[in-house]
Parts: sequence; structure tokens; C-alpha cells
Amino acid sequence: MTDSAHIHGSLRNRLAYTLVGGAAILAILIFLVVRNYAAQIAQQGQDDVLGASVTSILDAAIIRDGKIEIDFPYASFSMLSTPSDDRVFYAIHQDDTLLSGYPDLPRPQIQGTHDRDFRSALFNGANVRLATATRVLIGADVRTEIKVSVAQTQDALSGTLNRISRNVGLFVAGFFLLATLLSFWATSTTITPLKRLTNSVTRRGPKDLSPFVKPVPVEMAPLVSSLNYLMARLDHSLKQSEDFIAEAAHRVRTPLATVRSHAESTLHRVEREDNRQALRAMMRAIDESSRAAGQLLDHAMITFRADHLELQDLDLVDLVRDLVLRLTPIAEMKDIELRLSGDKDVKVKGDPILLQNALRNLIDNALKYAPSESNIDIIVSADPVARVDVRDQGAGFPTDRMPELVSRFSRGENAGNTIGSGLGLTIAQDVAVAHQGALVLSNRPEGGACVTFSF
Ligand SMILES: Nc1ncnc2c1ncn2[C@@H]1O[C@H](COP(=O)(O)OP(=O)(O)OP(=O)(O)O)[C@@H](O)[C@H]1O
Ligand SMILES: [Mg+2]
Repeated sequence: MTDSAHIHGSLRNRLAYTLVGGAAILAILIFLVVRNYAAQIAQQGQDDVLGASVTSILDAAIIRDGKIEIDFPYASFSMLSTPSDDRVFYAIHQDDTLLSGYPDLPRPQIQGTHDRDFRSALFNGANVRLATATRVLIGADVRTEIKVSVAQTQDALSGTLNRISRNVGLFVAGFFLLATLLSFWATSTTITPLKRLTNSVTRRGPKDLSPFVKPVPVEMAPLVSSLNYLMARLDHSLKQSEDFIAEAAHRVRTPLATVRSHAESTLHRVEREDNRQALRAMMRAIDESSRAAGQLLDHAMITFRADHLELQDLDLVDLVRDLVLRLTPIAEMKDIELRLSGDKDVKVKGDPILLQNALRNLIDNALKYAPSESNIDIIVSADPVARVDVRDQGAGFPTDRMPELVSRFSRGENAGNTIGSGLGLTIAQDVAVAHQGALVLSNRPEGGACVTFSF
């Protein structure tokens, strides 16, 4: 099917890539947002403890005898202990003088008395979080400002963050996997109606031009209506040309019959041999033309009936017997015996006019191409499928051209002088195909042609 189509991309892939791409972007966004939020919360936790530590140190500062005294509560630093044994640094300044702690610890400027400052910094080659706060102490004759900074490394925090990242990563990977599976499922269900339509077009017989009636999704409705419209037009123009052929054949046949009867009666009256020869040639040409017109008419009728097949329950044996009776006079002219044999009762569903026409063409061929004083066996059987074999005792089909003999207007060399148009086997095959059957040509080992018409 795709051999003759120009392919540009694939709807299924496009849909799948869009959905999977969307899921990937969503997964990355979820990862970043959750990780960022978790980092903020973890940082807030560390800041709270650092702030509490700074405040507890500041609260311990007093002025005694005009001098600052700070008696660190034990909890000031113990509250900072972490499972990763993070290091803690501090610095206490009175105004600009270092009272205790690390002199290099960054000393951020703070505006208000109760303000606290939190920031990340690099200290001693490690990333630290630094909390700073000030307090103004007022003694008997002094007014002084104490500034306390406490810094802590962030090993525990980054451990926690890594753990959170890992878990969020796993969650996001699971989400992405699920979304990918859902994308493939969604893609294939979306594409299913299209596949169904393709199948029903592919499964159709070559002559089935009836409209599609199965429901389709709304997006496919324009495609199906255009297809139906196209088929209706095709059906109409096909019918027109069939009608034209039938009409033309009919119009040709009637005057031909008149001309033939005139020629025949003239032949009886004419004495001279060369005139008689000319008349005989003329009659032969008329027979050829009228056979061709008859077969064309039959072919058009068969095409029409096959398109509007009305099946009836038939007894194939009765139908064939009837045909044999009608053809016996023609057979007798050639001293040929038509012998009907086989099963007694073979039921089929079919169009009797089409079947008679097809089988008549087969027996007609046997009568034409088999020698005089021979037998033609017509065997009707029911097993394994209903079938009719027509076997003659002639020379058989020309083996090299056997497959093409069923095509229109094709005749074998053995046809010689016999009158014919090359449509008989085409008609028989068309009827077999319309009945979901087949026409098989073969030559019998003991000599003679065998045609099998099976249902
Ligand atoms: N029983 C047969 N034995 C030998 N050759 C046959 C037999 N039946 C058909 N053929 C060969 O197959 C060819 C095609 O047969 P077909 O019936 O289609 O056309 P036709 O008999 O030539 O013309 P018509 O349209 O009048 O039937 C014949 O011309 C003949 O060569
Ligand atoms: Mg024939």
C-alpha cells in the first residue's frame, strides 16, 4: 500500500515524540522546583538554629564594672551539633574590637539593633552559613555595641540535599517512565481509527465502491466524506461506461442479425463460386462481430450484477443440468456427449443468471476446442468446497500462455479459426470472484483441458 505513497513523517511518531518530550520537560521542571524548595526549607532550618545560637550568646553578655562579660551558655554551641560533625566558628566584637573567636570571620554590616543577618560565605576553604546579630549594652557610664557572628559548615545540609535530590530524582524518573508508557498507549489508541479505516479500504474487493458507514472520530470525518464522494463519482462514471458498452453492443447486434439473414438468403441464390466465397467470408465476419457484441453485452451485465450481487439459495446440480439440456442440441451437432456426474445435491448461495452465464462459457469453450465425437465431463461436487469441473478431450490449453487466457480479449493460438472474442474465461472468472470463489485452468495428464469453477 505504501509503495505508491509519498511518505512525509509519521503521525504516530510525531505524537509520541511530542508527548514524551513534554513529559521530559515536565519531569525536569518538577525536579528543579522540588529540589529548590527542599533546599530553601533545609537552609531555613539551619538559619533558625544559627540565629538561636547567636541570640543566646548575645543574651549572655552583661556589663560588669564597665567591662563586658560573656558567659556562653553550653547550649549555644551544642544546639549546632549535626550528624556530619559540621565545624562551627564564631567571633565576638565589642564595637570594632575582637573580644573572642576567629578574627578573619566575615563581619557583615548591620543597620538596626535587633536586625540579624544570614549569608553564605567561604571561610577557611569551606562553604559556611554565617549568622550575625548585634546588641547595644548600656552600663552606668558606658554605651557599647556587641556583635556576635556564628558560622557553620554545611556538610549535613548538603548530605540532606543530596538525599532529597536522589529521592526526587527517583520519583521524577518513575513519573517520566509512566508518562512515556501512557504516551505510547495514547498514541496507539489515537491512531487505531486510522488503521481501522486503512484495513477496511485494503480489505475491500476491487469493485466495492460502496460508501464507508462505520463511525469515525470527528477529525477523520472530512477524509471519509471526501473518500465517499470520490467513490460515488467513480461508481457513477463506471456505471456510465458499462451502460454505454451494453447499449452500444445491443445497438450493433440487432442490425448485424439483419445483415446476416440477408447474407444467408443471398448465399442460397448466388451461383458463382467467388461470390459465394465472399458471402461466406462476410457471414463469418458478421458472426465474429455479433459474438463479440454478445460477449461485451454479457460482460457489462455481469459487471453490473456482480456489483449488486443478490444471493439466492440454489441447487448447483439443478442449475448445471438445466444448462446441459439447453446445450445438448449444439453438442449433438458435433457428435459430442455432455456427461453430468458428481454429487446429487450441492447447495450454494449465488446469482443464478451469473452462474449460468459463467458455466455456459466454460461448456461452450469445451464444445469449441474439443474434437468431434468426444465426451465432455461436467462434474459437480460439494467437497471440500462446492465446485464444477468441466473436462474435455481436446488438445488442452496452450501451456505457455495459460495464466493470461483469463484476461480480456486474450485468445490462444489453438483458437485458430473458431469464432470468439476472448471474453468467455474473463466472464467466468469475474463471476467466480464475485462469489468469493476462483477459476482454475489446468491440463489433464491423460489429455484435454480442465476448468474448475469453485465457490
Ligand atoms: N477447453 C479449452 N481447450 C483448449 N483451449 C481453450 C479451452 N477453453 C479456452 N481455451 C483457450 O483460451 C482462450 C480464451 O478463452 P475464452 O473463452 O476467454 O475466449 P474465446 O473462447 O476465444 O472467446 P469467447 O469470448 O467467444 O468465449 C481461447 O481462445 C482458447 O485459446
Ligand atoms: Mg470462450
